[in-house]
Amino acid sequence: MNIILLGPPGAGKGTQAALLVEHHGMRQLSTGDMLRAAVKAETPVGLEAKAIMDRGELVSDEIVTALIDAELEAMGSDVGAIFDGYPRTAPQAEQLDAILARHGRQLDHVIELSVNEDALVDRITGRFTCANCGEGYHEHHKRPRVDGVCDKCGGTEFKRRKDDTEETVRTRMAEYRAKTAPILPIYEARGIVSRIDGMAPIDDVTAGIEAVLASK
Ligand code: AP5
Ligand code: ZN
Repeated sequence: MNIILLGPPGAGKGTQAALLVEHHGMRQLSTGDMLRAAVKAETPVGLEAKAIMDRGELVSDEIVTALIDAELEAMGSDVGAIFDGYPRTAPQAEQLDAILARHGRQLDHVIELSVNEDALVDRITGRFTCANCGEGYHEHHKRPRVDGVCDKCGGTEFKRRKDDTEETVRTRMAEYRAKTAPILPIYEARGIVSRIDGMAPIDDVTAGIEAVLASK
């Protein structure tokens, strides 16, 4: 099974991808996470991407497609892929088709998380993650069970993303509207798009996604 999770920043792609990994043993391929790892490691890709990401703009198609290609190459062909944050432009959608064909994979579902943009700023500016295990939290919607202690690993250090400021979120949303939303019709024409209400509680969104996956 190979699926794309599509939606604007803060729609819940990363949250739902992590749950699918847990429940189905699929692999999350997040270009955002790959780029942040490259920035942290100060690789040539990271050095090029850093300023672009800090502004909330899109990194070049060539860079992100090469990252995805390398991950798929290293994965067993029996492991399902969840594309999170990729593709984000029409050329990336074309490049993904070519890569999947080369790896003998087929796209089963494109799941669009539809959300109200006003709620996204709150979601993004309120989120934080465990510095040790990466578990995601939110100041209002998903607090650790014990304040200051990660539910998953007991870690007590948390971090926030540098691009999670209101100004950068607005740029990221504008990029989504201008460059990413227009790729939906490509997949609608293939009859593989399912739209899920991303404003529902996290568990309900998961249930909606599970129903789509069970449908085929
Ligand atoms: P990326 O890391 O992909 O960021 P994004 O698309 O902006 O998405 P986010 O990670 O912000 O949001 P999400 O949908 O995963 O939401 P989450 O689950 O965390 O990209 C970052 C940057 O990298 C880009 O700006 C660009 O520069 C570059 N880049 C990456 N990919 C690229 C590509 N393909 N091409 C070019 N450039 C690329 O949820 C958010 C919060 O809300 C969390 O706190 C969560 O707990 C909470 N939440 C989630 N669901 C719910 C719910 N149902 N109800 C209430 N709260 C919820
Ligand atoms: Zn943790």
